[in-house]
Amino acid sequence: MLIDTHAHIFYKDYRDSLDDVLKRAADAGVGAIICPGLDLETSEQSLKLADRYDQVWAAVGVHPHDAESAPDNTLQELERLAAHDKVVAIGETGLDFYRNISPPEMQERLFREQLELAASLGYPAIVHNRSADEGVLRILREVGYGNGVVHCFSSPPETARQVLDLGFHISFTGTVTFGKNHNEAVLRAVGLERVMVETDCPYLAPAPKRGRTNEPAYVSHVAAKIADILKMDVTEVARQTTENALALFSRMRLPNGSESP
Ligand code: NI
Repeated sequence: MLIDTHAHIFYKDYRDSLDDVLKRAADAGVGAIICPGLDLETSEQSLKLADRYDQVWAAVGVHPHDAESAPDNTLQELERLAAHDKVVAIGETGLDFYRNISPPEMQERLFREQLELAASLGYPAIVHNRSADEGVLRILREVGYGNGVVHCFSSPPETARQVLDLGFHISFTGTVTFGKNHNEAVLRAVGLERVMVETDCPYLAPAPKRGRTNEPAYVSHVAAKIADILKMDVTEVARQTTENALALFSRMRLPNGSESP
């Protein structure tokens, strides 16, 4: 069984096809899906989907792109939403210094505040990091909360080591199938130590499906590529990454009837 630990299935791409998308995921062996919000509105949408589908779980948070437009009551609202049974994490939050859609100091403030919220609740944090290794590591150290994942991992092995040493997990998307990035070197360096898989759909469809709308079923291609890189059986990659995900997202319960990892 696989867990897609990061899938934005609230997007309108799936509005008319979500039952089919989730059926294809189940057919591909995906037993659970975590849907992180990007702002208050999509956090609520994630929660509604989690309410509607047993195998879907929500995370609530504000993406760094949305830091500037976040209302003053953001933290209180996130805390209110997080009380729901099916919320398993705070996120996604983090820093994006590649596009700088929100000013860096606003991103940093909201990232720190969401980490502190996660710490106060004892929830894991889902962290977005783009071109911001130094800032992400600095704030993770300052807050001192070693519980979460740096998702869509794109940094070099030295950063992976530091992130893991802080207690964090890392997760890989379809970028692992693209080549021309650090993913293979990181996997060779750390093996499956606190490694998870995700699609980050609708973005980043893995190589065999490139150009199409990504969806949770395609997380199987991420696992297959990792198995290929590590010269392991894909069932072992599925077992270990699922175990890692269940250890991190400890509020998640497998839906009735699904096999254990
Ligand atoms: Ni995302």
